Amino acid sequence: MSLSGKTILVTGAAVRLGRSMARGIAQAGANVVLHYGQSAEAAQELRFELETLGIQAHLARADLNEPAQIEELMAESLSHGPLYGLVNSASIFENKGLTETDLDTWRRHLQINLTAPFLLARRFAAAAAAAEGRIVNILDWRALRPGADHFAYSVSKAGLAALTRSLAAALAPNITVNGLALGAVLPPSDDGDIRAVLASVPAGRWAELDEVNRALLFLLDGPAYITGEILHLDGGRHLT
Ligand SMILES: NC(=O)c1ccc[n+]([C@@H]2O[C@H](COP(=O)([O-])OP(=O)(O)OC[C@H]3O[C@@H](n4cnc5c(N)ncnc54)[C@H](OP(=O)(O)O)[C@@H]3O)[C@@H](O)[C@H]2O)c1
Repeated sequence: MSLSGKTILVTGAAVRLGRSMARGIAQAGANVVLHYGQSAEAAQELRFELETLGIQAHLARADLNEPAQIEELMAESLSHGPLYGLVNSASIFENKGLTETDLDTWRRHLQINLTAPFLLARRFAAAAAAAEGRIVNILDWRALRPGADHFAYSVSKAGLAALTRSLAAALAPNITVNGLALGAVLPPSDDGDIRAVLASVPAGRWAELDEVNRALLFLLDGPAYITGEILHLDGGRHLT
């Protein structure tokens, strides 16, 4: 496997989708740095599980709302050796429209969902120097079609889509930067009626976690001639 022996940092790796993606990466033979914020126990459990695959799994805690901790996260990650990949998955997703979006909500979304990936990517690229590398930013179908719902979240993901393309241009030719724009994969823990979601998914179903992993591995290990791409894995939701 060509990811074997390479190390990939996954943010928000302890729970839900980040956990599943980190597992998929480790199953593909890569070493992983599992970033977490609050979910220390889940992160430790995942580390033990992934080490049984014969790869190296390291833990790194950081509050992505704190720029200084983001610097420390990269330093800690690099202390285990060079990084080949960075998957920016950690994010916050608050169901607030324009009126409820106060300055604090706005700032937190932009800091965690957009500024953290920017700082991590910049540091990742500086450390990679001339070595080959891959960055994948986890987006949302809303990134290219931001609407009025989840106001700060949608704008932050739209910014992350723009960041993906700008980074791709800035970091060529050694580092590819792509986005994976997801639709309905796992229902949010605190969001309203999930049955309504399916009505707007042309595929008529939720995505399988394995489908997400296959697309992610394609961007991490597929053709290096693909960069600045935003791949939708959303059952056609962005078309409706
Ligand atoms: N779920 C879906 O169907 C779906 C759909 C479209 C897009 N996406 C995208 O896929 C990604 C993962 O989604 P998800 O549903 O699994 O997310 P989630 O359940 O909201 O998990 C959030 C993750 O982000 C981390 N995080 C949040 N705030 C943090 C902070 N201040 N510092 C450090 N870590 C922080 C959490 O870490 P701790 O728990 O360790 O604090 C957790 O791992 C996100 O980028 C999301 O936008 C998901």
